[in-house]
Amino acid sequence: MSQLLTLSRAARSGEPRPLRMQQDFLRIMTAHVQLMPSGHEFFVEGSDNLLEAALRAGLALDYGCSAGGCGKCKAKVLSGQVQKTRHSDYVLSAAEKGAGVVLLCCNTAVGDLVLEAREAHGATDMPLQNIEARVKSVTPLAEDMRLLHLQTPRSNRLRFLAGQSVALELPGGISASYPVASCPCDDRNLQFHVRRHAGDTFAARVFEGLGGADTVRIEGPRGGFVLNEESNRALVFIAGGAGFAPIKSLIEHAMALESAESLSLIWLAANDGHYLDNLCRSWSDALDDFRYLPLTLQGAWSREAVERVLPQALAAHAGLESCDVYVAGPAPLTNAAEYLLLERGLARTQLFVNTLE
Ligand code: FES
Repeated sequence: MSQLLTLSRAARSGEPRPLRMQQDFLRIMTAHVQLMPSGHEFFVEGSDNLLEAALRAGLALDYGCSAGGCGKCKAKVLSGQVQKTRHSDYVLSAAEKGAGVVLLCCNTAVGDLVLEAREAHGATDMPLQNIEARVKSVTPLAEDMRLLHLQTPRSNRLRFLAGQSVALELPGGISASYPVASCPCDDRNLQFHVRRHAGDTFAARVFEGLGGADTVRIEGPRGGFVLNEESNRALVFIAGGAGFAPIKSLIEHAMALESAESLSLIWLAANDGHYLDNLCRSWSDALDDFRYLPLTLQGAWSREAVERVLPQALAAHAGLESCDVYVAGPAPLTNAAEYLLLERGLARTQLFVNTLE
């Protein structure tokens, strides 16, 4: 699509944009930005700010409010020029401004840019946050599975790494922990796959119907089931049941990073079925280097049922020992997969496992 026709995300949403006049000419540009000391690179389209462009590229920059109020997204311009998209830099001292420090959420690039910025290097770099979000929608995915879509306030978004989980709490103290099923590149719109279980009061409330007037408190993120960004090995994802939720987040993040040479997804399903099968097929259709293999278990989850289908799927995967493998799902899957993969010769450092209840 021509850059001239490309509208920024904020413009599409009708969000009021300060400095509109100054930005008009920026819409025709795409700038290349390099972050130091990591060397990570991304592109800024049109008048998108530097923070939103970096997040969309899958980079885990330090930030907070996204609105010029907290100062957490400070970065130093080493070369190139920035243009303000929002006049909110009161958190910067005169000395910082003089030294070329800018707020990534309040500036865009005017031509190519080199910045010195803080990035998260793992789950331990993610601050624990407490955010009140509103329920945007609840959508059926399968008879016993719902897609819960929460939206955070514009100025208080959830900073997390793909694959991590959060605690969700409804008014009245009903709470549960869920992996985030969406990509950190959209830190305002958070998706969760909620399965109905006997005795699960949180899921029961979701299935009874939450609506736009309802709020959910989010606390997190937690967990170290995240991509090893130091590696550029091919990636294999093995999901079981609702373990597809963190795997989906990891896949979307890996796609944004564009660093892995290929991606494979093996999804084992029992009663819930492959409830986002069309999405997986669309990834497979759109990307040459994406392989999707849906497998169906005979009966309920058990180690025996997994071992009836998984060994053949792994045996058919050439070069598995040189991949990074991420496994998420119920214990019968993670136990069997861990055993089979290590027996196949995969190094333990290339195996990442998340067992869900
Ligand atoms: S994220 Fe708070 S000032 Fe940029």
